[in-house]
Amino acid sequence: MISTPPVLARDIDGKAIAAQVLDEVRDEVRVLARQQIHPALAVLLVGEDPASEVYVRNKLLRAQEVGIRSLEYRLTATASQDEVLALIAQLNADVAVNGILVQLPLPAHIDEAAVIHAIDPIKDVDGFHRENVGGLVQGIEVLTPCTPSGCMRLLQETCGDLSGLHAVVIGRSNIVGKPMATLLLQAHCSVSVVHSRSVDAPALCRLADIVVAAVGRPGLIDASWLKPGAVVIDVGINRIATETGHRLVGDVDYASARTVASAITPVPGGVGPMTIAYLLKNTLVASQLQRGARVRERLVVDEVVPG
Ligand code: GUN
Repeated sequence: MISTPPVLARDIDGKAIAAQVLDEVRDEVRVLARQQIHPALAVLLVGEDPASEVYVRNKLLRAQEVGIRSLEYRLTATASQDEVLALIAQLNADVAVNGILVQLPLPAHIDEAAVIHAIDPIKDVDGFHRENVGGLVQGIEVLTPCTPSGCMRLLQETCGDLSGLHAVVIGRSNIVGKPMATLLLQAHCSVSVVHSRSVDAPALCRLADIVVAAVGRPGLIDASWLKPGAVVIDVGINRIATETGHRLVGDVDYASARTVASAITPVPGGVGPMTIAYLLKNTLVASQLQRGARVRERLVVDEVVPG
């Protein structure tokens, strides 16, 4: 008997879609430059974590490529929390700085939450500040976390209108899972969040039209977790050892999942490039929000002190 090979899911090309987003950012930067507006992003790295060094280098490089001014700040791993907070206060006060990103993780002696919440919410291009988290939940225009925002763009490019689709988010982190679920809800999806205490996670996942995997468990989700035709977004970036070195794999078993899904992000080349693209887009949004806030401040001052 001749068996027909399975129809494989198409790849969602994160590199190409991120390039499109970066082109949009570059165009807007050019328009702003004609008005003498030059958005700037400050990136702070504390310590010498090798993975963080690579991430920061890429962020600064991409910023330069689209014409966003990037300012790199480095503190040693022994820097005190007060030193980090003092630098953030200085960047908050500097009107020429539009976005502030503190690369995580921070050294163990520094309170990550205290640092995140010291950043002026209007400059919080990561969207991690509780004021932005609250705004996101309430549907107010705020800075939203970069990776989930990038995933939404991938989904919109792949599916068009997401309204009425059932999305399952696997993982409930503050950085990806929770904001992802909120953004999907705003796009009118029915949303389930599956996590380590969920009973029969594969069965819940099999109900999904859209699966977003963000758990940090290499290859956890295979074909048996998926409804035929599901669209799969793999946020995982896991480094696994091979005989010759290492390779990056997602939370989804790509070879298996693509025999059932209709579209899937590869790792690398799927979600990864979108995170930086949305960081730079957020820097533009931040500069726009700050200009709006300054205009509103002037209006209030003019009302209180008539000229
Ligand atoms: N470290 C890993 N991912 C991120 C991120 O999205 N933002 C920051 N600031 N640090 C990270």
